[in-house]
Amino acid sequence: MAKDTLSVTDNRTGKHYEIPIEEGGVIRATALRQIKAADDDFGLMSYDPAFTNTASCRSRITYIDGDKGILRYRGYPIEELAEKSNYLETAYLIVKGELPDRGHYDRWENNIKIHTMVHENIKKFMEGYRYDAHPMGMLVGTVGALSTFYPDAKDIHNLESRRLQTRRLIGKIPTLAAFAYRHTKGLPYVYPDNELSYTGNLLSMLFKMTELRYKPNPVLERALEVLFILHADHEQNCSTNAMRSVGSSQPDPYATAAAAIAALYGPLHGGANEAAIRMLMDIGSVAAIPDMIKKVKNGDRRLMGFGHRVYKNYDPRAKILKEMAAQVFEVTGRNPLIDIAIELERIALQDDYFISHKLYPNVDFYSGIIYQAMGFPMDMFPVLFAIPRTSGWMAQWAEMVRDPEQKIARPRQVYIGEQLRRYSPLQSRPKPTQREDAVSEAI
Ligand code: CMC
Repeated sequence: MAKDTLSVTDNRTGKHYEIPIEEGGVIRATALRQIKAADDDFGLMSYDPAFTNTASCRSRITYIDGDKGILRYRGYPIEELAEKSNYLETAYLIVKGELPDRGHYDRWENNIKIHTMVHENIKKFMEGYRYDAHPMGMLVGTVGALSTFYPDAKDIHNLESRRLQTRRLIGKIPTLAAFAYRHTKGLPYVYPDNELSYTGNLLSMLFKMTELRYKPNPVLERALEVLFILHADHEQNCSTNAMRSVGSSQPDPYATAAAAIAALYGPLHGGANEAAIRMLMDIGSVAAIPDMIKKVKNGDRRLMGFGHRVYKNYDPRAKILKEMAAQVFEVTGRNPLIDIAIELERIALQDDYFISHKLYPNVDFYSGIIYQAMGFPMDMFPVLFAIPRTSGWMAQWAEMVRDPEQKIARPRQVYIGEQLRRYSPLQSRPKPTQREDAVSEAI
């Protein structure tokens, strides 16, 4: 009869073990510890350097089927949310688990908007950054600094405190992002306009000049809503893993979110939208694409905005953005990089290398082209990723805090260094030439 167990025979000892299979296909790594060659053995461990096959949590927030190209928040397909929802409603869904009714939505929107202002000292803090500081670096520091403004946030086991910090951070992050942008431009900061939508207010804080009231273009405002919906959560990606891992030692959520933003900054994660645009500019013309493909296949370059740890099919977010680009270009004018991107995608998707490696465009391939057409400078692209991802980070963090199975994140290692050595006095150590290789490898 079929059983939900895994039978393991340790050929070192001939011993037999039955390991339970949970959730239709999961074994607990700790179940391996009982498998020992000798009584004083540590027991077996699994080795998974980049968590490619290790679940670190049980989560109810986001579902991805990477082979089929499916993405759902709390069960709702990303395509439906992108078409019918707005960012704040989607953020509510992600944070609370259900779509709000009218009353709950209005209260949520109001509760977010009353937190859009920041303490005046935050402005002064930001003035300390160099004129050419990368806005993502500024965001890492400034969100971390919020930790010092809200000491009540340390009360992470208090539901009301977690709710308050969640609303605060979702409310303040557009303001911090916009201030970072204005700082690099040498422009005065624009205070929030709570009469506008979440994205309309962001556009106002970024682009308002001397007009009394900024009127966002409705097409661009809606495009930003869709972009924000698509970026709101993506289960256990690098920055969310940072949020959970750092949060597991129980600092306040601002210090924790600063770590998540730092993780997002890298070119392999949220920085890929910036890197993808730089790559398209570097390619420069459709005629130069074959040469780029050759370099990628030789291992000299990576196609930024291509490939994904989880999607082995077209990233559903990229599909939505590719279609949305045309609507944005009707307002902004066509970004000529789209021609290079579409041709690059066409050639790549017919090429054996990309087919065999299952490399498809990801969300960052088209988002940068849209952001650029909308007038955002490239170094703001990862910041525009961080703003909506804040709701996902806070939801994942709260889920982690509430999960009785979670403890401080502390992976094991496979030690491959020296065994016991005795200290020798400086004058009697081997000559530098004998030690140089080992020392230079260490840095
Ligand atoms: N261009 C060329 N080859 C690639 C690419 C790429 N973009 N991505 C992966 N490969 C190849 C890689 O060389 C390797 O080949 P081989 O097995 O022959 O050595 C194979 O595919 C597997 O690559 P990997 O690096 O082991 O895969 P991973 O799951 O660790 O990496 C990734 C995932 C997203 C970091 C990677 O695909 C990548 O670097 N892409 C470019 C950066 C990018 O667009 N990142 C945004 C990801 S989506 C938004 C987000 O969640 O942040």
